[in-house]
Amino acid sequence: MILEPMAAAIGAGLPVTEPIGSMVVDVGGGTAEIAVLSLRGLAYTASVRVGGDKMDDAIVSYVRRNHNLLIGDITAERIKKEAGIARCPTEGHGITLSIKGRDLVNGVPAEITINQMQIAEALSEPVGAVIEGIRIALENTAPELAADIVDQGIVLTGGGALLSGLDDAICEATGLPVVVADDPLTCVARGTVFALENEQFRIFAH
Ligand SMILES: Nc1ncnc2c1ncn2[C@@H]1O[C@H](COP(=O)(O)OP(=O)(O)OP(=O)(O)O)[C@@H](O)[C@H]1O
Ligand SMILES: [Mg+2]
Repeated sequence: MILEPMAAAIGAGLPVTEPIGSMVVDVGGGTAEIAVLSLRGLAYTASVRVGGDKMDDAIVSYVRRNHNLLIGDITAERIKKEAGIARCPTEGHGITLSIKGRDLVNGVPAEITINQMQIAEALSEPVGAVIEGIRIALENTAPELAADIVDQGIVLTGGGALLSGLDDAICEATGLPVVVADDPLTCVARGTVFALENEQFRIFAH
């Protein structure tokens, strides 16, 4: 067994065996796990109950409230993956998608269009919750580690890290460099295997 934030950090290639502080934020389906690592261990961990599922819910609610259209979770997840964006597009309204659902007024199938400006608005609450969790983690981080994080930046893992612009939104809110790990969806799995197969990482397993 290896703790998930540690596995995510190892999978993301963070320098966990060196005395360098780092922060990894794993945005999964149900939760966002925020961890500060130092000296071969976890200095801080927090789990925020927000992730991809809440993002899907936020899109469903937005479309119902603003367009009187009922869509399912699968449609919402597809919208998120195709055109989800963590903050307003830099130019104009961004991409426009057409979505089908059931009209709540007359009960019949209907189609509406939604643009990325609206999707960003829909996602602002769950994105804000991830950022708030990071802010609290930074407030609770010892100054020496905070200094390392300023240099190293924050690494994002998990499927939620693929949300377009999430890195920029976190960078803007914290002033810190933010990078998305390579292949963020598989970091935890790769980190777990790596930790079990490599002697010097076995200290993280228990
Ligand atoms: N391109 C994408 N843009 C936005 N979100 C995405 C993208 N691809 C996948 N996701 C979301 O990532 C989430 C799944 O991520 P991941 O596999 O890391 O979660 P998990 O480990 O199963 O969940 P948890 O860590 O909460 O147990 C889903 O909500 C999915 O919709
Ligand atoms: Mg996960």
